[in-house]
Amino acid sequence: MSLAAEPGTHKPLDIIESNEQLLATRKAHFPPTAVHYYQKPLHLVRAKGCNVYDEQGREYLDVIGGIVCISAGHNHPKIQQRMLAMIQNDEIQHTTTLYLNRYATRLAEKLAQAAPAGIDKVAFTNSGSEANEVALMAARHATGETTVMSLQHGYHGGTLGTLAHCGHASWRFKAQPVAHTVAALAPNCYRCPFKQEPTTCHLECATHVEETIQTTTHGKLAAFIAEPVMGVGGFITPPEAYFHQVAKIVKKYGAKYISDEVQTGAGRCGEAFLATKSMQIDADIITMAKGFGNGAAAGATLMRDEIAASLSGKFHFNTFAGDPFQAMQALTTMEIIEDEQLIENARAMGEYLIEQLKALQSRHPLIGDVRGRGLLIGVELVKDRITKDYATAETNQLMELTQERGVLIGKGGLFGNVVRIAPALSISRTQCDQLVQALDESLTVIEKSNA
Ligand SMILES: Cc1ncc(COP(=O)(O)O)c(C=O)c1O
Repeated sequence: MSLAAEPGTHKPLDIIESNEQLLATRKAHFPPTAVHYYQKPLHLVRAKGCNVYDEQGREYLDVIGGIVCISAGHNHPKIQQRMLAMIQNDEIQHTTTLYLNRYATRLAEKLAQAAPAGIDKVAFTNSGSEANEVALMAARHATGETTVMSLQHGYHGGTLGTLAHCGHASWRFKAQPVAHTVAALAPNCYRCPFKQEPTTCHLECATHVEETIQTTTHGKLAAFIAEPVMGVGGFITPPEAYFHQVAKIVKKYGAKYISDEVQTGAGRCGEAFLATKSMQIDADIITMAKGFGNGAAAGATLMRDEIAASLSGKFHFNTFAGDPFQAMQALTTMEIIEDEQLIENARAMGEYLIEQLKALQSRHPLIGDVRGRGLLIGVELVKDRITKDYATAETNQLMELTQERGVLIGKGGLFGNVVRIAPALSISRTQCDQLVQALDESLTVIEKSNA
């Protein structure tokens, strides 16, 4: 269904109309760090379910949802109705944790129910970066240690503290905070740093974590932080056993294990609301954002009671954290995920997509690897399957060609050669087919032009 024939009834204030003007004004006033997808940047103005619409009313299947932010679907009617009701009832537009608030409190209770046993305390934030800042601060405070270990190719946010644990040179700036950080090699089975095969390896990547602690720290860690699936890194999907072994190792050296579920949380992995729980990762702290608020600026740091207890006597305040509108949207998103069985759908559609994408891999030599969990799927493009040279230019071409075919994909990886697929958890089989067809046609065009 196209929404082109139903223009909005309200006229926004004095806004810039043409895309050319928008681009020029943006260029004049946004810093150069604000990059955009597509040679001719898209101007998306409306959205419903898994679809988004540009200013001309052209419909696109959105399989990236901002950057992995849309879980319940764009403009879900239940969220819309509750937001409208809140406004119409003159419900408090802004309040803080200094006052009682029913949405944030109920949300904390619901999150604790969804978390692994023993993780019962929730601090709200406005973003994933802030959620990780709270996690790092709490781990350092609880242990009295400063060193934090992360993974190469990992990403945990754009604030100074989190950037110190960023595994991508392109995202890091010259300014670095004074904090001891170390990073272990990424558990990337497709590009194993130890040249092993997943079926026969001995998890050398996990053993390497211990060696790194022994050789680059004073023998104690405050925290180890890792994503269950490495999002910005290109949906690198380590085996579950890696996390089990690593949790044991880092805890031996005193670390709190921080599981960064900013991308993997909110049912995206198709197993449970939190991948940390379904993968049985022995985490002490779990961070969330993105799909947790279904696009609302909501983040959360879930922590074990004893870590929270170690913070007592201190104040921590975040002006907008737990804001009623954010909290209501996150709470309603959790309800929708349950009521509409979206975790089950994420699992089924994820399996279906992996199967279809593997079939594409058998026909398209550009596809080097297909991987993921649930609806967090990476398709790594390589120039040559033996040398595994990064097909960066081809991935950019694929972005443009799929957009021409009405499908918006994402990309990631240090070299920008991994297609990222993370649609709303409600995606249908027909929409999955639409995506696969757009990829198939576009890959054929690229391969022909390179022949
Ligand atoms: C795994 C992970 N952690 C943290 C963040 C930071 O979240 P935010 O951009 O909301 O600050 C991101 C953002 O991409 C992320 O992917």
